[in-house]
This record gives sequence, C-alpha cells and structure tokens, in this order.
Amino acid sequence: MTETVWWKRGTVYQVYPRSFQDSNGDGVGDLAGITRRLDYLAWLGVDAVWISPVYPSPMADYGYDVADYCGIDPLFGSLSDFDELVAQAHRRKLKVILDFVPNHTSIAHPWFTEARASRENPRRDWYIWRDPGPDGGPPNNWLSNFGGPAWTLDPATGQYYYHAFLREQPDLNWRNPAVRAAMYDALRFWLERGVDGFRVDVIWHLIKDDSFRDNPANPHFAEHLPEINRFHQVYSADRPEVLDVIAEMRAVLRAYGERVLIGEIYLPLERLMAYYGPDLSGADMPFNFQLIQTPWRADAVQELVENYEAGLPEGGWPNWVLGNHDQPRISARIGEEQARIAAMLLLTLRGTPTLYYGDELGLGHVPIPPERVRDPWELNEPGHGRDPERTPMQWEPGPRAGFSTAEPWLPLSPDHETRNVECLQDMPGSILTLYRRLLALRREHPALAVGSYRTLALGLPDILAYERSVGDARLRVILNFGTAAHEIPLPESETWTVLLSSRGGRAGERGAGRTVLGGAEGLILMQS
Ligand code: NOJ
Repeated sequence: MTETVWWKRGTVYQVYPRSFQDSNGDGVGDLAGITRRLDYLAWLGVDAVWISPVYPSPMADYGYDVADYCGIDPLFGSLSDFDELVAQAHRRKLKVILDFVPNHTSIAHPWFTEARASRENPRRDWYIWRDPGPDGGPPNNWLSNFGGPAWTLDPATGQYYYHAFLREQPDLNWRNPAVRAAMYDALRFWLERGVDGFRVDVIWHLIKDDSFRDNPANPHFAEHLPEINRFHQVYSADRPEVLDVIAEMRAVLRAYGERVLIGEIYLPLERLMAYYGPDLSGADMPFNFQLIQTPWRADAVQELVENYEAGLPEGGWPNWVLGNHDQPRISARIGEEQARIAAMLLLTLRGTPTLYYGDELGLGHVPIPPERVRDPWELNEPGHGRDPERTPMQWEPGPRAGFSTAEPWLPLSPDHETRNVECLQDMPGSILTLYRRLLALRREHPALAVGSYRTLALGLPDILAYERSVGDARLRVILNFGTAAHEIPLPESETWTVLLSSRGGRAGERGAGRTVLGGAEGLILMQS
C-alpha cells in the first residue's frame, strides 16, 4: 500500500497561470511567477501542480486555443522558463501536470491555415469540413458550447468547419491517423522535458459521430440554461471510438513510466466510468465533477459518494474536485463556513483530490464590472461567464495583493487586504490553516490517502459521517452540513482522539462514546 503511485497518494493543485503570480509587471501571471511561488505550494503540502495552457495562443479562449503545441506563449515566458519551473518543482518533490488541448487548435495554428487554403490541401482532412446543408445553412444542428452554431462557413472554399467552442477554435479530426501521430509527438515533446502528466481538455469530445447525425432535442431545456443544452450531445461527443484514442494516449505516457493521464469529462456517472477504459486502458483519472454538480446536502453528498464508489470499475482509482476555472467557486456557491466542510470532505474522501488555487483562501464570487469582462463565453451568453473564478491570487496586503505591480487583468476580490496568504497563513482558525492541516494529515495517515471508505449511518439528517481505514488504523470523519450542534453517538467501547476540527482548536481532545459536533463543524477522529 505504501508504494502506491504518486498520483494516487498525492494531491493536485490547479494553477490558472494568468492569475497566479505576475513576475514582469504586465498584470498577467507567468511561468517565472509560478516558479517563485513553488515554495508556497510545498509549504501548503500539495504534491502536483497542474498548469492551465501556456502554449502560444491568440488567447481567444485564454490559452485553450493553441497555435503551437510545442512552445510557450511569450506572455508566459519561454521554454527555458518552463524548464526552470519543472526543475525547481522537482527539486521540491512537486510534480508538474500540463494542460493538453487536443480537441481543437486555434484558428491561427499553421495546420488550420493550410487546411483552409483549399479543399485539396493535404491538411484539409486534419479538421472537420462539411458541405452546407440542403438549405445552404450549417450541415446539422450541433451547437457551440459557447452559444450559437458549431459550424462556421469558410466562404473561400464553400464548406463549413466544425468548432465545439469558439469559431476561433476549429476541431481537429481525430479520425485521421496523421492528426493522432502529430498530437502524440506533442505529448512526447513535453514528456521528454520532464512533465509528469497531462490534464486533457474535453477528452470526451475528441471523436464525433461518423455520419454527423443531428443531436436529439432536450425536452428539459429552459431559457436560463446555456444554449448548448437545447440538445443532448449524443452525436457530437462521447462516441465509443474515443476510448481507442485515449488508450493510445495513455500508452504514449506509459512509455515514460508513471506519468498520469487525467481526462476532463462532464458526463453522468455511468458514462464517466467508461473513461477508465476497457481493462483500465483509459484515463488514469477521469475527472469527477460530481461534487460540483450535486446539491450541498448531507444526504445528497452521501448518496453521490456511495454511487461513485459503487460505480468504479475494478481497480479504478477515484478522484474528487470542488472547483476549477470553469465553475463558480465553492465558497461562492455554499458560503465560506460550508466551504471549510467541503475542504475537509475533499481531502478525506477516498481518491485523489484536485484543489483550485485560491479556494484555500476561501475566495468567493468576485464581481466583474461590465467593462472588465474578459471571458468570451460571458460576451456571447451573459450570465454564464467564468471571470469571477479566474481572478488573481492574493498573496499579501497592498494595492495589488502581491500579484503584480500593474493593474491585474481581472479585478482582485474586494476583501484582498485581509483575504490573502500573508494574513491567513499564521492564523490558527483560518481556512488556509485548515487546508494546510488537512494536507498534512493526508500525508501522515495512510488511511486518508489509500484507506477504504465506509459510510457511517448516524441517522442525523445534516450529518455525513464515514470511516477511512487501512490495516488497524481507523479514522472517522463527521461533517455537519447544517448550523445546529449535534450530539454524535460513537461506540462506548472505543476511545477517540480529535485530529482536527474544521474550526480550529479541539485537536488532541479525547473521549469515549458520544461527542458533540458544533454547527457547521467538521471533525476528524482517530479511533482506538
Ligand atoms: C474546457 C476548459 O476547461 C475551458 O476553460 C475551455 O474554454 C474549453 N474546454 C475549451 O477548450
């Protein structure tokens, strides 16, 4: 058990590079900035850093529109800055995970320039081109995830190209073996530079229906939802052949040892599990976003954990996520008090946790004035934008929170004078201290990292309780999703010791039998 591979034992921390640390005074974070803050990540106690895209890009979708898979955008630095980051991270025993964006390139990628040059161009088939539909309009009803049709007419060649996202992000044709080979070469380029794994963007989108059938209408569509929800995406994504592609990608990684493949997948549980692949040949960790999508209630979360555990294929390793650069922050969704309970949940469930930068400060919804909106999705479909969860990291008191010397590309949270690393790092009851303590406990107690999971049915509606155990070690986690205090029944024959309370204090408290759990309190107990 103790030899379990690093990505099973460890924790992942996502950095949105534009917003972590600016080192050259342009208001945008960069690689040298991340390198400067590696000591913070080591101090916090995470094991791996996943960096959202830093490749050359026109930034139509802030780096998720890649113009060169084997370079670094000058905004973020250079390849030698990247090598330095990897070397410095490894020196601190931190792994580095890159964001790989294989579904689409930028419209500015030379491959697309060639592809659109003529119907006969050898690169034409690297992208997805179709003749207009019978009425001269788009070839089918597929929609862009950012609103509007997913097809754009290229007048020069008279065909439409497909883009699951912006028209500046044409989808690659993953049915073309030459595309696959080129993309696997790109993976190798970074693996050779020492990258420890990849988070693969929209991996379930890679293969589309071979006959481009219309997606069926969604009878539950409501106007407040993003337009993409008008149809079920059954033909434009999640096609069975995608599993072959993922297995190939995984094989590329495995040739370099224990490098991890994490797939970004928003699908219902049954479909998500398919992405572990036949005989676990697929993604090592298909990202599990269920905690983001489930109502914040003890019963709902308990059911979700049990269903997820039960749905895992034999040998499949679980993982949990509370937030990322596409989702409202956990603190904004459930409030800071419950965000502490969520942190305790994330870091004590069975499976690899991924933390989102700033959540350890309890960053909430940051208001974005209209003139400062940056996210293209917000511009297309107001109300659905992701800028509020992408604002700069807050390091210290002062006008720019230590993030930059210039005006940051997105506003800081209004409470940045007090909500920052410097103010919270030595404060015993701060959420940052809680995160750090939880991360330390996960390292100290193999039961938390690799132990089994068992729900404890206490019969208290607001309480979620479970046991994690390995060998003789048994830890109990008791989380109060409500505001009232509760007496918690525990076996009279056992003694317990508090390892951690989400509110601080209580550590070392011992007893036998019942204990009291405060409102919105979480406890980790060691049983003996
Ligand atoms: C998912 C990424 O997380 C998101 O930020 C991006 O806009 C889309 N994929 C398109 O690449």
